[in-house]
Amino acid sequence: MDEKSRSGLEPEIKVTMIKMALEARKNSYSPYSHFQVGACLLTKEGRLYTGCNIENAAYGPTNCAERTAFFKAVSEGERDFAGIAIVGDKEGTVVDNYAFPCGVCRQVMTEFTDPETFVILVAKSEKDYLETTLAALLPNAFGPEMKGGNK
Ligand code: THU
Repeated sequence: MDEKSRSGLEPEIKVTMIKMALEARKNSYSPYSHFQVGACLLTKEGRLYTGCNIENAAYGPTNCAERTAFFKAVSEGERDFAGIAIVGDKEGTVVDNYAFPCGVCRQVMTEFTDPETFVILVAKSEKDYLETTLAALLPNAFGPEMKGGNK
């Protein structure tokens, strides 16, 4: 499913996004799961917003890295997004797994993207990543257009 193809993103920006996601992962606050995630979100105009997962003693308030990046960007006025890079693995390890976005993050992405074109890079490193779209990861989504919403 996750061909390394199809993307409208240039190789250089993909490398930058993955490197920035790896840097953001270092800020992960994950004392409960010890699973560290970083993300880097690209706007259609080329601006980049990073995020990490932020856990909570009550567990439920935990925010994933992807949503941190989205909420930072949306709160700065951004609404148009081209893609996101995601890296995640256990604390104290070099990333050696492909950490796909959770269902809640996929839903949040649906609110602010065109799922057919929004690129999701799931990376171990800038040289080793899978590439897919939101539409592939969340088919038949319940999106804002159902409610006459914002797109
Ligand atoms: N996590 C993310 O940051 N992104 C995801 O898409 C999946 C899960 C975080 C939440 C929690 O802090 C830790 O990974 C373990 O679930």
